[in-house]
Amino acid sequence: MEQVTERLCRYKNSTFPVGYTTPEYIDSLQGFEVRDSDVFLVTYPKSGTIWVQQVVISICELAGGLNQFPNNFVQMPWLEYNEEWDYASRPSPRLFSSHLFPALMPLGLKEKKAKIIYVTRNPKDNITSFYHFSREFTDLDAPETFETFLEQYLKGNVLGGSWFDHIREWHQNKDQYSVLMLSYEDMVLNLREGVKKICGFLGKSLSDADVDKVVEKSTFKNMKKDTKANYEFLPKEKVRGNFMRKGQIGDWKNVFSPEQSRRIDRLIEEKLGHLGLNFVWE
Ligand code: PPS
Repeated sequence: MEQVTERLCRYKNSTFPVGYTTPEYIDSLQGFEVRDSDVFLVTYPKSGTIWVQQVVISICELAGGLNQFPNNFVQMPWLEYNEEWDYASRPSPRLFSSHLFPALMPLGLKEKKAKIIYVTRNPKDNITSFYHFSREFTDLDAPETFETFLEQYLKGNVLGGSWFDHIREWHQNKDQYSVLMLSYEDMVLNLREGVKKICGFLGKSLSDADVDKVVEKSTFKNMKKDTKANYEFLPKEKVRGNFMRKGQIGDWKNVFSPEQSRRIDRLIEEKLGHLGLNFVWE
């Protein structure tokens, strides 16, 4: 692994916190035995991962047959971190999270039976969330200022690698997988619709009352209190702040200068313009 910063290393365009994984482990994932019933939640960091974890876990619990684990992290672990948990002996359905690029995902996913939910967030709010988180999570490099963080982010020298590459790679390769593309903003604007979309994609038919229950469990207010879902179970010396910070669209306006905002607009046009993506900014 190439050391990128004090706390980050890079392997094949993805970046990882030092000590979380190894090149051998990442390469071994190509041959990871995928089951048809597996569900993978893939995101660039700070795009709503723990939110959609809560939705997927709640849906699968209500649909029945989900094995119980002590919290959402153990229930829906990040595939790329070498936790040394025995996934082969986990009962189905197995749930995983990942920040990986498509090229590093298990090849078995291309058989299109296992499902992938890919969640995106507008990059200005993504950067804002990531900036605050980097100051509070001790396994990441703490930026001195927003400006220094923005430069690191635009170079891809943050956890996950380049946001632009991640979005482009997943959009360009999505037809190779059975994938549902969702946005954080759509979920903020209509959580119930988001829950129903995920139910439909996973083939879980829940009653209206059960859909309501999933929505209730997944609101920002309720997740913040939910000790299985809010990540406060992580050691205090690792996380000084909160995974559940604001949960809003448009907080970027509190940190971006007009010129920084225009710079992101230009980069989106230059790097992703051909994909015709639309982002919700407020
Ligand atoms: S991580 O570290 O990559 O797993 O972070 P991730 O979960 O992808 O992103 C964290 C942001 O998601 C927000 N969040 C929510 N927003 C709205 N509603 C709910 N229920 C919810 N749960 C998590 C969380 O607050 C982080 O965004 P910011 O903008 O920092 O608040």
